[in-house]
Amino acid sequence: MNIGVFDSGFGGLTVLRALLEHIPGADFCYLGDTARLPYGAKSRQTVARYATSSARFLVEEGAEYLVIACNTASALALDDIRAAVSVPVLGVVETGANAARASSATGDVLVIATAATVESHAYAAACAERGLRVLEKACPLLVPLVEEGWIDRPVTAEVLRIYMTELMEQAQAARFTPDTLVLGCTHYPLLRAQIERTVPRSLRVIDSAEVTAEQVAQVLGAGGGAANPGSRVRFFATDSVAKFAALGSRFLGRTIPRVDLVDLGG
Ligand code: DGL
Repeated sequence: MNIGVFDSGFGGLTVLRALLEHIPGADFCYLGDTARLPYGAKSRQTVARYATSSARFLVEEGAEYLVIACNTASALALDDIRAAVSVPVLGVVETGANAARASSATGDVLVIATAATVESHAYAAACAERGLRVLEKACPLLVPLVEEGWIDRPVTAEVLRIYMTELMEQAQAARFTPDTLVLGCTHYPLLRAQIERTVPRSLRVIDSAEVTAEQVAQVLGAGGGAANPGSRVRFFATDSVAKFAALGSRFLGRTIPRVDLVDLGG
């Protein structure tokens, strides 16, 4: 089985990491659409255009199953992607909402995400279907900080402090009793430790990487088993392959020896 994993940049590596642990025998191809990032500040039409061309590329590279490891593309363009390719497609908003349902006892959930994801209210809809109340907050400065590798810089801690303080004030004003914070952007788990230091301890921080990998393993009947020594992981980026290899290796927790440059147009 060849599984295609797609994100606008490095964020989807958090999902790939979980997939590699759960389905060690599969082949993977990962595309980071770094030339056209950030998706989170763009319109639905533009995100759909970028995401469908990226999905088609992965299928042309042999992907038999696609994981859209980008909340923004999942929230705004999942139907477009499904219409554009003939292989099964899984998005991360549904799996993130499943994780929120499993985590929350109070039924009140906070979600941080890109501006486009928040404006789509895809999380609010998916969580409402599961009996959860949701407060969504856009954190547009976080993706550029992650893409720059500024994980431990003081500026990142300060930006997080401001966003999280605002979020907790909004939760209080809305009379929420939240016990779960969903990282509704696949870039944010790379800041997980910093986020956990900033929010109250009563808040459980979750992301969709684990549940997504579990769901893919279940659907494909491919979980467990030993790593296949012959299994391949190929990486593609639409810009700056050297930067992708260097920073991506850090985020993935294993060396990325080669990244191929792809031109998907504008
Ligand atoms: N990682 C993407 C997500 O999960 C967003 C990054 C971007 O704005 O391009 O939403």
